[in-house]
Order: sequence, then structure tokens, then C-alpha cells
Amino acid sequence: MHYGVSESKESFVLLTEGLRKSFSFGNSKIEVLHSVDLTLKKSESLSIRGDSGCGKSTLLNLLARLELADSGSVYWEGKKLNASEKPSTHEISKRASFLGVIYQSYYLIPELTVLENVLLPNRFLDRVDSTQRQRAMDLLEKMGVLDKQNQIPGKLSGGERQRVAIARAMINYPEVILADEPTGNLDERTGGEVMDLLLQSCVEEETSLILVTHNPKFARATSRSSVLQDGTLNEV
Ligand SMILES: Nc1ncnc2c1ncn2[C@@H]1O[C@H](COP(=O)(O)OP(=O)(O)OP(=O)(O)O)[C@@H](O)[C@H]1O
Ligand SMILES: [Mg+2]
Repeated sequence: MHYGVSESKESFVLLTEGLRKSFSFGNSKIEVLHSVDLTLKKSESLSIRGDSGCGKSTLLNLLARLELADSGSVYWEGKKLNASEKPSTHEISKRASFLGVIYQSYYLIPELTVLENVLLPNRFLDRVDSTQRQRAMDLLEKMGVLDKQNQIPGKLSGGERQRVAIARAMINYPEVILADEPTGNLDERTGGEVMDLLLQSCVEEETSLILVTHNPKFARATSRSSVLQDGTLNEV
């Protein structure tokens, strides 16, 4: 998955070079990612499939700089970040507007209402005004759950929770969404509806997407597809 010599790194919204990651326990060590080179352009969507335990979630954590690599680089909008060093405070605040993340288990805050959950990333940025609230409500409407805005997540179905999580991921107009098996807890039909909403919203807002999924149909719905195997990422 190497970029062509004619293309500069600035033309990719997300790029990695030689990402390596291992885990040690006791005397044993497993190398999960040997050397991952990934490229993603603006508005592109890339699916990643691979056996359970092959390192998909680990890779997403490295891309989000939530975990440290053994070596290698991650580029956010052409800016090189040393993946084995702790992120700077500047990077951490950039992450809130650069990236949105969606997990299989939703990770909504149970005590907060749906609307408060969607606005949570803005609370961290200390930025909640009427424009932000309108953006949150527009997203909830697009996701078909505006009528649930004052409910707590515990009263919502799995599909509704994931719609709220998509709205939360998109609140700050991120450049990239990382979705880790977003339909993994949903039945086929609900999963299909949620996936359609996610893909459609990314296209409409020109948001790039990395989608980890075990579902071959969803994996084919992205503009590019890849498989993570034996620690390397190969386009298929
Ligand atoms: N913090 C950790 N400490 C030790 N080993 C870990 C840690 N996190 C992940 N691993 C190991 O790294 C490997 C990759 O895990 P990862 O969660 O990235 O897999 P995955 O491809 O996302 O799997 P799944 O499809 O089941 O979600 C696994 O063998 C896992 O046990
Ligand atoms: Mg995983």
C-alpha cells in the first residue's frame, strides 16, 4: 500500500510508515504489527478485515495516537508524528477536531443525555455554543434519533446508541473517522442501516473513513479494501 513517488505526503489525510507494535507478557513477546504502511486520501474510505486478534484495533489505536508503537511514523494531514513517543498536548487537542472514533460497544456516557453525549467532545474543547448545539441536533436528526435527544443511552436500542455515537464522532467535522466494528453488536438489518448512515454521512461531509469490519458486504462498500494479516496490511 505504498504511495506513488509522485505523490507528496501532504496529499494524504492519514499515512503511516513502518508501524511496528509488539506486546510482551512474562518472557514472551508477540509482534502484532510488523510494518504497516497505510495511506488514506481526503474523502476516501478504507475497510480493514482480518482474523480476530490480528491487530486491527491495535492499528486504529496507533492511528489515533492512543497507544504507542515500537517504531514507525503516523502522519496527520502531512505532519509527521513519531508513533513511539507520547503525543504532545498540541496533538491531543488537534485529535479532538481531526479524528472521530466509533467503537463496537458505543461507549456513550450513561449519566448524560443523548444530546450531552454528542456535545461531549466540545465540552473537552470548552466550546459549546448555540452553533454547536444546532450541529448536534442536525446530526441527531440525520441519524433519525432527534426524538431521543433528552433520553439517557440506557433507554436506547443498540442501533439507536450507535447512531448517537456516529453523531458524536462527527460533531467537530473531523477529517477522519475510525470505526472499529461499528456493527459488531447489531443484527444484520440494523447493522446495515447504521452502516448506510455512516457511509452516507462520510460521503456528504467528505470525511475519510477507516472501517474495521468482519462483514464482507460492508467491507466491499468502501472505496478501498484491505486485509491485515501476519502484521502487514495488504490492499485487496
Ligand atoms: N494491552 C495489551 N497487552 C497485551 N496484549 C495485547 C494488548 N492489546 C492487544 N493485545 C494482543 O494483541 C493482539 C491483537 O489484538 P487486537 O485487539 O488489536 O486484535 P483485533 O484484530 O482487533 O481482534 P478482534 O477482531 O477480535 O477485535 C491480540 O493477540 C491481543 O491479545
Ligand atoms: Mg478489535
